[in-house]
Order: sequence, then C-alpha cells, then structure tokens
Amino acid sequence: MRILIVGVGALGGTIATRGINASVPIWLATRSAQSAAVLRSSGLRVSGVGGPGEVRSVRVAAVEEYATADKFDLIVLATKAHDALEIGPFLARLLAPRGTLLCIQNGGVSQMLSERLGDRVVLGGLSNLGAMVEPGVYEQRNAGHLLIGEVAGGISDRAMNVAEALRPAIEMRVTANLAGAIWSKLLLNCSVTTIGALANQTMRGYMASAAGQQVFHRTYDETLSVALATGTRPERMIVDPVPPEGDRAPWIDQILATYGDIKPSMLQDFERGRRTEIDFINGYATELGRKVGVGVAMNAAITAMAHRIEAGEIRPDPARLDDLLRQAG
Ligand SMILES: NC(=O)c1ccc[n+]([C@@H]2O[C@H](COP(=O)([O-])OP(=O)(O)OC[C@H]3O[C@@H](n4cnc5c(N)ncnc54)[C@H](OP(=O)(O)O)[C@@H]3O)[C@@H](O)[C@H]2O)c1
Repeated sequence: MRILIVGVGALGGTIATRGINASVPIWLATRSAQSAAVLRSSGLRVSGVGGPGEVRSVRVAAVEEYATADKFDLIVLATKAHDALEIGPFLARLLAPRGTLLCIQNGGVSQMLSERLGDRVVLGGLSNLGAMVEPGVYEQRNAGHLLIGEVAGGISDRAMNVAEALRPAIEMRVTANLAGAIWSKLLLNCSVTTIGALANQTMRGYMASAAGQQVFHRTYDETLSVALATGTRPERMIVDPVPPEGDRAPWIDQILATYGDIKPSMLQDFERGRRTEIDFINGYATELGRKVGVGVAMNAAITAMAHRIEAGEIRPDPARLDDLLRQAG
C-alpha cells in the first residue's frame, strides 16, 4: 500500500517515524517546500512511550508537489481540523482508484469530509498518541492507539486493510461504531479540555470551584443530549458516557484520575497564538444541537468566548467561568 501522510506534526510525525522505521512505504507532505527542506535535512526522531526511533532519510515534499506524483492507496490526513477541510478535496485527487483518505482529527471532520467527498473515499479515525517537541522531533506521551472506522458505521474490508497497513507503525483498532467513539471523545473535549483552556486551569483546578462544576455539568449534559438526539450511541471511554442518576462524584473522580492534571492542549494553542479547533468541538456540538432542536446555550457561549481569546480580546482566566454562567443564562 503506497501511503502519504499529510501534516507532519505531533501525530503525523510520530506515526511517520515509527512507520518508516518499520519499512512501511510512507511519503510525507508538508504545508510548504521550506518545511519539507527542514525535515529532509533533520530527519525524524521519536521518543517516549513505544521507545526511541530515528529516520535519517525521508521522502518529503510540499503537498502540492504530489499533484504530479504516482497516486496513493492511502492518505493519512494528520493536519488540524480547519486545514483538513481546506486540503481534503485536493487530496482526494491524489488517490488511486478505490484509495482511502483517513481523517484522524477530533470532532466532526471525517463526517464533514465524507459528506463532501463520499463515504467510499473517507475513513475516520481517532488517536491519543503524541505531542510534538519541535519539527522533526516527536514525543509519544501515551501508550495509545489509532482507532479507525467507517463514517457510516459497520466493519469493512478496507478498514481492516488500512489497519493492517499501519499496524507496524502504531497500535491499530477498528470500530463498527466510529460516530459513537468520536462523540465519546467529543463529550470530554467539549467539557474537560475546552473549559480548562478558557479558565487557564486543569480540570482538577476548575472543579474545585462551584462555577467550574456548574459549567462542566451543563456543558457535558448539553453535549450528551446533542449526541443522543442525533441518534449516536456514545461508547464507553474512560467512564460510562451517560452519568449516573443522583451522586455523580465517583463518576467525576474517574474522569479526574485520567484527565484531572493534564494541561489542556487548547490552552497551549491560546498561549502560542494559534488558531484552535473550537469550531469542530463545542462549535460542532452547537451547530448540530441547533439543527436537532437541543438547547446548546453553554456550548455556544464557550465557542464565542474561545473566539474572543483567539482574537486577543480577553485572556484565559478562572474568572471566565462566571462569565460563561452569565452569558449562557
Ligand atoms: N497530538 C495528539 O496526540 C493528538 C491526539 C488526538 C487528536 N489529535 C488531533 O490530530 C490532529 C493533528 O494534531 P497534531 O497535534 O498532530 O497537530 P500539529 O502538531 O499542529 O500538526 C499538524 C501539522 O499539519 C501541518 N499542516 C497544516 N496544513 C497543512 C497542509 N495544507 N499540508 C500539509 N501539512 C499541513 C502543520 O504544519 P504548519 O505547522 O506549517 O501549520 C503541522 O505540521 C488534530 O485535529 C488534533 O486534534 C492529536
């Protein structure tokens, strides 16, 4: 299987380094010729969980240069969500007949690209693996895996074949319920990650305040209502996706045990002045909630607040929690 990885960041770089090391036929695409030249001279290195790995010689070029190259059987789209939507249609033209575009972003990207390009082209995926240190040097922080599946659900031969092709690089799992897996992660991204980023706190930090608890539960419950109203069956991830009736404290403790002390990745985006994926997380839940008639006032307030932080109008701060409660009404 001829494989192109587009986006050589934390996730793409980690998969690429481990895959090339294991002799998987992988080519790499960067946004610019300049980034490609940097990687060509630096090579790739990975450390952390899964052990160290190094690749000296990489086949890498700016993405548009592949327009005239041989076609690919599999393209792993590993850019951030907004870039994925932009470049997805171009990448579909680089695929061999019956080739697959595997989208591994959080949130609704695989669904959106599948609607545009067709569900025979797009396969969805979810991961929890890496964090980039600097270009060409990746660190895998979790013993994670890449979970893939058909956007429309079910198990297909092509998902099994793609899993087989990437297995030398990374632990692969196939799910018959991709939408359920995506929503399980979205439930936690919308609440744990985004609220922590806005409040400039870990989840354990903001759950120590009454405002933090209220914002968390409202966001989680709204997002779960959207998932259920769209007919999705969220899968168990860290906890049962449906909180228990009555006392939720033990359920919250389970989430805290895994995510309580992690600095939210969106907070890192704020600090670096980078665009966040908010439109594909709380923004996606807001858009779908409005379509299916579920109240999404808290998700909408969170999305608007994240945009204001991106624009430099306000800063992440614990005071944002009270602002959210006021704004969501
Ligand atoms: N990191 C993780 O462990 C992890 C876990 C779960 C989910 N995810 C999801 O996986 C996706 C990728 O995350 P990441 O952490 O790997 O992001 P990242 O480190 O920012 O990497 C994205 C890479 O894509 C490149 N890129 C952007 N547009 C491109 C284009 N048109 N053509 C080629 N390359 C392009 C970026 O280059 P520039 O720097 O030039 O923009 C960057 O190197 C995100 O949706 C994220 O939410 C990541």
